[in-house]
Amino acid sequence: MSTESTVDAFGLAGAFRVDGRVAVVTGAGSGIGRASAEALAGAGAHVVCADVVASSAEATAEGITAAGGSAEVVGLDVADRHAVERTAAGTVERHGSLDIWCNIAGIMVEGPMVDTAEEDLDRILAVNLKGVYFGCQSAARAMVAQGRGSIVNASSAAADAPSPGISAYAACKAAVVQMTRSLAVEVGRAGVRANAVAPGFVLTGMTGRYFVRPDGTVDEAMRDAVVEPLRRHAPLRRIGEVEDIAAAVLYLASDASSFVTGQVIRPNGGVAMV
Ligand SMILES: NC(=O)c1ccc[n+]([C@@H]2O[C@H](COP(=O)([O-])OP(=O)(O)OC[C@H]3O[C@@H](n4cnc5c(N)ncnc54)[C@H](O)[C@@H]3O)[C@@H](O)[C@H]2O)c1
Repeated sequence: MSTESTVDAFGLAGAFRVDGRVAVVTGAGSGIGRASAEALAGAGAHVVCADVVASSAEATAEGITAAGGSAEVVGLDVADRHAVERTAAGTVERHGSLDIWCNIAGIMVEGPMVDTAEEDLDRILAVNLKGVYFGCQSAARAMVAQGRGSIVNASSAAADAPSPGISAYAACKAAVVQMTRSLAVEVGRAGVRANAVAPGFVLTGMTGRYFVRPDGTVDEAMRDAVVEPLRRHAPLRRIGEVEDIAAAVLYLASDASSFVTGQVIRPNGGVAMV
């Protein structure tokens, strides 16, 4: 008897494939954005790797094409509404459709709320709130016109469980949840879905600020001091890996989640249960 099963109930194995679809990933130059771009390309999409640091998006795209996938690069500041619109319109022009748009780009501003300067507040609102809003608008316009599409936004566990020192970041990430739900109710009838992913702590450029020295070397004692309490506190007893989040992004982007919209998926090891 063969040990290889040929059962594919409801064609679900194929439902995670996104062959021939065109995806834009913002923040594709690093961390979760890069992993999401790689996951989508691995599942068959052509990925437009967009990042304000074009050289890092280039490295992501090169990695994808070297592995046999399909990708291109766009230098994009998501805080620039016109540039976001051009990226969406240009993608449709070049490829004939825009099927998946992932708003992953984000920044951190830290410090107690009472000390946060207005320019720092404006900076984080411009990228983490308006940047996602602009991405939703531009992607939804194209997707509603074509009658299908999936938008995935990066929120955070901070939207549910605030920590001291990241009030502006947490406010943006909570706003991302509600703009995702608002968009979902507006575009659902056109066949377009919008969902959010709210990761727990993952080691990336953003979180590495706690223990990566200016010369790029890692302060291991400091890293352990940051990671160990988080690991011990998490029901799954670990912090996240970028691929944990990319798997959720792929699920939300693909037809595997075709009945899911306006939802928040929380790959966080169980640290916040809402
Ligand atoms: N790492 C975590 O623990 C964690 C947890 C929850 C949520 N998130 C969210 O996940 C997303 C990705 O974070 P990450 O940890 O991979 O961070 P990262 O710093 O490794 O990557 C962020 C990427 O976004 C790009 N970017 C920054 N500003 C931009 C702009 N204006 N326009 C376009 N690109 C821009 C950066 O150049 C970088 O490549 C963010 O939205 C972040 O808030 C991260």
